[in-house]
Amino acid sequence: MVNVNLGPLKLSSDLILAPMMDVTTPSYILMIQHYGGLGFYSIPMVFVNQISQAPKTVKPVLEFAEKNIPSSVQICGSGKSYETIKMALDVLNSYDFSIVDVNAGCPARHTCNSGGGASLMKPHRFQDLQYLVHSIAKHSNKPVSVKIRTGWDSKDGLEGIVKMIEDEGASFLTIHGRLAKDGYSGTVDLDSIKKVKELSNIPIVGNGDIFNHTTYHLMKEITKVDAVMIGRAVMGFPATFAEIDAGEKSQKTSIVNHTSPLSHFYSELLVDREPNTPSKIQEYLQVLLNSIESLGSYYNNDKFKLIELRKNAIWMMKGMHNCAKTREKLGKIKNIRELLHYVHNSHFVKDLSPKTNMA
Ligand SMILES: Cc1cc2nc3c(=O)[nH]c(=O)nc-3n(C[C@H](O)[C@H](O)[C@H](O)COP(=O)(O)O)c2cc1C
Repeated sequence: MVNVNLGPLKLSSDLILAPMMDVTTPSYILMIQHYGGLGFYSIPMVFVNQISQAPKTVKPVLEFAEKNIPSSVQICGSGKSYETIKMALDVLNSYDFSIVDVNAGCPARHTCNSGGGASLMKPHRFQDLQYLVHSIAKHSNKPVSVKIRTGWDSKDGLEGIVKMIEDEGASFLTIHGRLAKDGYSGTVDLDSIKKVKELSNIPIVGNGDIFNHTTYHLMKEITKVDAVMIGRAVMGFPATFAEIDAGEKSQKTSIVNHTSPLSHFYSELLVDREPNTPSKIQEYLQVLLNSIESLGSYYNNDKFKLIELRKNAIWMMKGMHNCAKTREKLGKIKNIRELLHYVHNSHFVKDLSPKTNMA
């Protein structure tokens, strides 16, 4: 693990968990922490309107972030209403988590239609983004960070946006190396992340397509970012951070001399990872259940347990033998007792194991 300072934040690891709506729940964050390697995490976006108008609905997640520091809470707004931003900040200021992060990178339609997320990277929204970062930095009693993409449909304004964010007082910046219009297609644009790192005076977190030790190393060596943020790689694989950390300790090989173009190199690397085993999934689900049970009643109830365990079990089966059939079985289960009975039963192991030829 590499110690790193992100502005005032002193972290024992440069591996950061990305905010992922419906994925990085408090219980899943606890499970990742259980396996180790994690330096910091961000609670997925909460809309400023929701925080200001219905503060009780965000209380459980803010209490979690306060209790499990260092942590960041990501907020999403359009930069159009000063009063709403101020009211939301009054709520956030009463909790003791570490960072307020501004979402200017999420391309999801409902986020952009609300005027927030990556829509703030459109050239004509420059002032809205500036106003949002400015107002949050002014009213927050915590340091502020911003998460962006390389642009909306072009990288033309990137340098100006980065400089503005820095001038408005952000403590650090996270950049996902893709344009918003590209969604998740293609491969991460490491050159743009490298340029942002070169021109910035604040720490930069690089994000996009890191799913193992090699891709972590590639991002760090090419872009020289201070830390990395990892998202989709942890879906179904809660020990990803621990594995990257172990890889970093055991093999410090340089890979920047690779001769093929970067996009080819990535496609070589994007081979499906080694699937989990049925017993690994049983272990993960038990750790997840323990995590839920350590939380308050908002999470620690049968309905949440069923949704959380079923959803994660399905991601954990990725690439396994017979997973479509097993997924279908899981989908039909309607209560947590039945689900636990099924996954801890020999049928589960049998269903997911390749048939051996007995001849
Ligand atoms: C299911 C899902 C939910 C996401 N939710 C958010 C979010 O709430 N806020 C945000 O800034 N990005 C969100 N993202 C984007 C991730 O934080 C991250 O930037 C992106 O997945 C690229 O990183 P990766 O290649 O490591 O997955 C989400 C991504 C996924 C797949």
